[in-house]
Amino acid sequence: MMLRKLSRELIILCILLTSCNKSSTTSSSTDTNNNGGSTSTYNDLFVPPAITGTNFNLTLDKSTKQFNSGAVTATYGYNGNSFWGPTLIMNQGDDVKINVTNNLSDQTTVHWHGFHIPAIMDGGPHQIIEAGATWSPNFKIKNNAGTYWYHPHLHLKTYEQLAKGAGGFIIIKDPIESALSLPRTYGTDDIPLVLTSRRFNNDNSFNISGAYGDYLLANGTLNAQVSLPKQYVRLRILNAEIERGYDLGLSDNRSFNIIGNDGGLLNAPITATRVKMMPGERVEILVNLGNDALGSTLDLKAYNSGQKFGFPGGEPATSGEFGSLLNNKDFTVLHIKIGASTNNAITTLPSKLANNTYWTNADVTNSRTINITGGQAGSAFTFDNNTYGFTNINQTINLNAVEKWTIVNNNVFGHSFHVHDVQFKIIARSSGAVGEHESGWKDTVYVPLGETVTVIAKFDDFADPINPFMYHCHFSNHEDGGMMGQFLVK
Ligand code: C2O
Ligand code: CU
Ligand code: CU
Repeated sequence: MMLRKLSRELIILCILLTSCNKSSTTSSSTDTNNNGGSTSTYNDLFVPPAITGTNFNLTLDKSTKQFNSGAVTATYGYNGNSFWGPTLIMNQGDDVKINVTNNLSDQTTVHWHGFHIPAIMDGGPHQIIEAGATWSPNFKIKNNAGTYWYHPHLHLKTYEQLAKGAGGFIIIKDPIESALSLPRTYGTDDIPLVLTSRRFNNDNSFNISGAYGDYLLANGTLNAQVSLPKQYVRLRILNAEIERGYDLGLSDNRSFNIIGNDGGLLNAPITATRVKMMPGERVEILVNLGNDALGSTLDLKAYNSGQKFGFPGGEPATSGEFGSLLNNKDFTVLHIKIGASTNNAITTLPSKLANNTYWTNADVTNSRTINITGGQAGSAFTFDNNTYGFTNINQTINLNAVEKWTIVNNNVFGHSFHVHDVQFKIIARSSGAVGEHESGWKDTVYVPLGETVTVIAKFDDFADPINPFMYHCHFSNHEDGGMMGQFLVK
């Protein structure tokens, strides 16, 4: 999917002049339902089935889903699901084997996002699964307990295959997390929540173009509602958007506790009323529903109105490549009804979670800088003026190096920067302090327009002189457009 790049400034200028877009009026604080319109009925949140063990079978197939009245929508799903796939539950230290069968009439790949595994097992653009074929990677689970995910990574098709619904959660468990008094009954007080949005064509097919959808999908459900028990509940939230960011909060403005990032638990819970999430990022939060009345309701919302320019989805247009019905608005992500508490309800919050020791400047053995480039009117975004090349090696890293990467974005728009193989520590943002919400291990980081972000990671365990890992913008339209590079660890 090659997108024609128009200058966003030009589009905003058009809107200000109200000459390019006839539906350009916006209000920055409108509270809309997640269909972008007025109140409508809710649908029960789909909770993906979970599979536990060391041997997993995943089969990607074409499917359909009834999103709207009338025609069904053509989708992709793993293991017979109509959109998205099962949640894989794995234990740290296990040797797992996964058989991935591709029943599409197209190639695909499956990438284990966030995993520290050999490059040949990573499921990036090089581990192509032909139509009808099965790929069977195996690897040891080295990551910490946390929320990870799998998704296609076929170059030029990542956007399309992800947009159709190919993806799924992976939950890793480990002894540190298991020893804590935390909600962990899957689907009851421990809820996986993947956020994305889609635009529908008149025939109800997905519109696979442009940056943003018009209708929020929570686990593939339009206007989703869920009943949650009157106690602490855990939401494992993944932004699996094409490009939109989310600034999440609760409708009564109550605070919640952030307990984990991309790479697992924080050292201690953090109290917040908002958390920003860019495509690819995960956050685990605890919400205390213990003081809510039975039968009362609460909404998880995206407070996306009035964001700084460069926040993806902040553009005021309601249609077109960089517009949508959800842009620059506050909208509901999940409608929550308070139900009865469960036996063994979690009613208190642990004060300590993990004992992570993060990399610091003193540990660094090599530094490099990556500039975000391109994106001028008519061109795609790139890194260091190089568009993605299947056989290009953009960075070569010594095994066991502790590397400081400085990502510089003095260019056009914000991005979501993701590195395969490692979890990193964000040590600096040129705009000021690193947010508490991103203080843990990370594999994806928001690089706002005008900012320089510095991260440190150790590239240990997996040397391979031939098979590269990827680093890229996790906006899949930018990634497909060439905003991706390759690195070897050797
Ligand atoms: Cu989630 Cu290279 O991706
Ligand atoms: Cu990844
Ligand atoms: Cu980008």
